[in-house]
Parts: sequence; C-alpha cells; structure tokens
Amino acid sequence: MAEIHRKPHAIMISVPYQGHINPFVNLALKIASNGFSITFVHFEFVHHRLSKAHHCNKTQVDIFSKARESGLDIRYTTISDGLPLEFDRDANYDEFWGRVLSDFPARVDEFVGKTIQSDPYLVHFLVADTVFSWPATIAEKYNLVNVSLWTEPALVFTLGYHLDLLRENGHFPCKDDIDEEVNYVPGIKSINARDLISVFKESEQGHYTMVKSAIMTFEQPNYAIGPVNFFKNLPTYTVSKSLWSESDCTQWLETKPPGSVLYVSFGSFVHTSRQVIEEIAYGLLLSEVNFIWVVREGILSSGDTNIMPDGYEDEVKDKGLIIPWCNQIRVLSNPAVGGFLTHNGWNSTIESMWCGVPMICYPFLFDQPTNRKLVVDDWKCGISLCDGTISVDRKKVAEKIKSFMSGAAAKSFCQEANKVKTILHHALEVDGSSERNFNQFIKDLKEKIHSTTTNIE
Ligand code: UDX
Repeated sequence: MAEIHRKPHAIMISVPYQGHINPFVNLALKIASNGFSITFVHFEFVHHRLSKAHHCNKTQVDIFSKARESGLDIRYTTISDGLPLEFDRDANYDEFWGRVLSDFPARVDEFVGKTIQSDPYLVHFLVADTVFSWPATIAEKYNLVNVSLWTEPALVFTLGYHLDLLRENGHFPCKDDIDEEVNYVPGIKSINARDLISVFKESEQGHYTMVKSAIMTFEQPNYAIGPVNFFKNLPTYTVSKSLWSESDCTQWLETKPPGSVLYVSFGSFVHTSRQVIEEIAYGLLLSEVNFIWVVREGILSSGDTNIMPDGYEDEVKDKGLIIPWCNQIRVLSNPAVGGFLTHNGWNSTIESMWCGVPMICYPFLFDQPTNRKLVVDDWKCGISLCDGTISVDRKKVAEKIKSFMSGAAAKSFCQEANKVKTILHHALEVDGSSERNFNQFIKDLKEKIHSTTTNIE
C-alpha cells in the first residue's frame, strides 16, 4: 500500500472556562501556523454559550471558519458532557466536575477512537489542559503523543510538582492562617505559606486531587511559551472566545484623561456575596476615581441576578461604567486606563502586565493568592486590597484606590509595570525566550511523532 504523507494532526480539548479557553484557542492558532492540522474540541455547552454571546445561529457557527480562510488548517467540533444544556454548571460545580472526571473521559475516548477509525493516519497527538487528569491514558491507548497545556504560572506548577515535599514539611494540607516561609522547594527561593494556592489549604484540599494527579505524572520536558494570549501574527481576533457579549467601552474611555480610569474585574469564575459587592461599589464611589467595572451575570454566590445596590448607577453618573463583560485586552490597552483592581486570575495578571497597567490585588481562590505574591512582592507592580481576607470595608477600599491612582506611589508602580511589560514583549520577539521555547517544542514534537509514525510530512 502506498504510504500516505500528512501534516501532523492534533486533537485539542479545552477546559470549559474563559481563563482556559483564551490560552487554548491562541495555542491552537500558533500550532496550526507552524503547518500542523488541528481538530479543536469544545464542550457542547460552551459552543452554545459562544453562539448566544455572539448572536449566531447555533447550527452555523464555526469559531475557526475565518482562521481557515486565512489558511490555517483548523477543524472545529464539540463533545457533550452528558448534562442538559440548561444545567447550571457553575451553581452545581461539584456535580459538574464529578462528570468531567468520571463520564467525560469515556466520551473523549470514543471521539478519538472514531476519528482514528475514520482515517487511521489522521491523529498524531493530543493537546489537553493539565487540569484534566485523563488525557495521558487516552493518548497511550491510541499511541498519540500527549501534550499538556498549563495555563497558570510556573511557580504554581512547581509547587504542585513538589507536593510530597510540602507534605513532609507540614505545608500540605496547610493550616489556613499559617505564617511560615516555604524555602525548601527546588526552583522557588521563598514563598510564605499563606500565599500558597488556596487548594493546598486544609479547608479546600479536596479540590486539588485532580490537578495533583495530572502534574505528578509529568516526567516530560516543559516549555515556557507564554504569554500565550499575545502570540504574534495570528488571526486571534477572528475567533469567538468570549462566553458573554462584550460591551464596547472605547467611546466612554475617550472622554477620560490618560491614566485616570481604574478597570475592575474579577474574571469569569469568582462568586462573592452581596456585601462584598456593596463595599466595593461604595468604595469606588467614595474614591472619586473614574472606573469601568465588569459585573458579570452570576457573580453573586446566591445566584441573585439583581446585583448592584438600588440606585447605585444613578449615584455613579458619568464617573463609572458598569458593564456585564468587555474585551479586556482592548480596555487595558487604552491609555485612559491607569490601574486594574483584579482577582489576579493568571490571564488577567499577565494581560495587565502586557499593557503596563499596575494592579490592586484582590485574590479569591485557586492560584490567585500566589499570583498576588508575584505582582506585589516580587515585581512591585501593585498593592494588596486587603491582607489575605475577602472581607472589605468601603472606607478602606476608597483610601487604597485614591492613593494607588495618584501620587508618588502610582508613578513607581507604573515604572515597575513598564519594566515587566518590556520583558514580556521581548519574550515574544523572534529571538525572545518564548519564541525559542516554542520552536524547540515544535522540533521535539515532530521528532517524537516521527518516532511513533512514518506517515507524516
Ligand atoms: C480561572 C482562574 O480563576 C484563574 O485563577 C486561573 O489562572 C485561570 O482560570 P478566571 O477567573 O476567569 O480564570 O480569570 P483569568 O485567568 O483572569 O481569565 C479571565 C479571562 O477573561 C481573561 O483572559 C480576560 O481577558 C477575559 N475577560 C475578563 C474578558 O475578556 N472580559 C471581561 O470582561 C473579563
């Protein structure tokens, strides 16, 4: 039989959250731009949310159609998690993740099996999020190279990798309020135990088991390829990624002086209480600073959709713009924006640094407390809103915001933020560390694929 020569082909499966979808889509474009074929898989409910957010007929939307027109070979499909589309996956987090870890892998297995059956030369590698614990098993079953994308900082990966060491030293599980330096982990100079990711803490421990099992199995080369959301020369903006409709803030921002606006957002996942929202709301008002605040539908843990205090928007007038969602990178890039009050999700943290915008850090959970340490203690690009708690007081919020947005401290934060910005931008230059690492990844990947199959170009 004649040998069939093909481009190397990957199946890519993203975690169904905004903070994972964005880097995943960008990585897909980047791999495809290196001459690979991609079959990109979203959860079916994500596809429906994207269609709704972008006002598309759900049967027609293919998020990569424009990217294909630009010459990239990316196909797009979905897999159901077995739950009804209207099932509230945020409110029923444990039940949903129970499914993702128990039932969904069999669905992926079936999908990979069928794809290979339809064309035995089609698939060569699998790219999934490190948060999933099952891709290694599926990759092994079908003789595919297993590539894992870690969307959080290397610092967090290293902590997860050395979990046994943390356990031996009594820092996993870790007491909630412990104030001790962890200075025995290879590659990490020092980190206070209170800055460890929240799922290391006694109160939350259960949630870490899935990530732990994924990280611990990783005796493979690692490539630092970030900041992924800013890869160059890719048709990034042609792909629908936002799970909510975006409000355009450009006109409003144009009416504000440079550096005068505080952008406020707590990402796609954080839930909080009405009391926190109220204290932040009146803290912003008392600070007298201009602000854009992303108040996502569903941010209240209670599920209540009536989020803002009564009459608040009338009091704010033109000082603030309250929106359900926006194109965050576009907002952070606007010269009117001078600060970011953030929950420190890793995407938000890096996007802020890419734009040279200093941060007021208000971490909630997961990697966010650790990301705060990087911003405040290591890079000196911002301040903490409170000391390790979620509880906030409007007067203190106002004071912090006021002093952060004006005066000598603000200037110093901007200078430091610009230093980090320069480093990040350089990483993506042709001779930058990210580009070099990415090229090495592609070279190693091709070699690995060649050693398992001879049918690729
Ligand atoms: C989650 C975790 O919370 C975070 O800690 C982890 O690092 C990644 O997964 P999330 O909470 O959504 O992510 O935060 P973040 O990582 O900051 O990602 C949010 C993404 O949504 C960013 O890329 C941001 O640009 C985008 N976004 C946010 C918008 O496009 N518009 C908005 O209005 C708000």
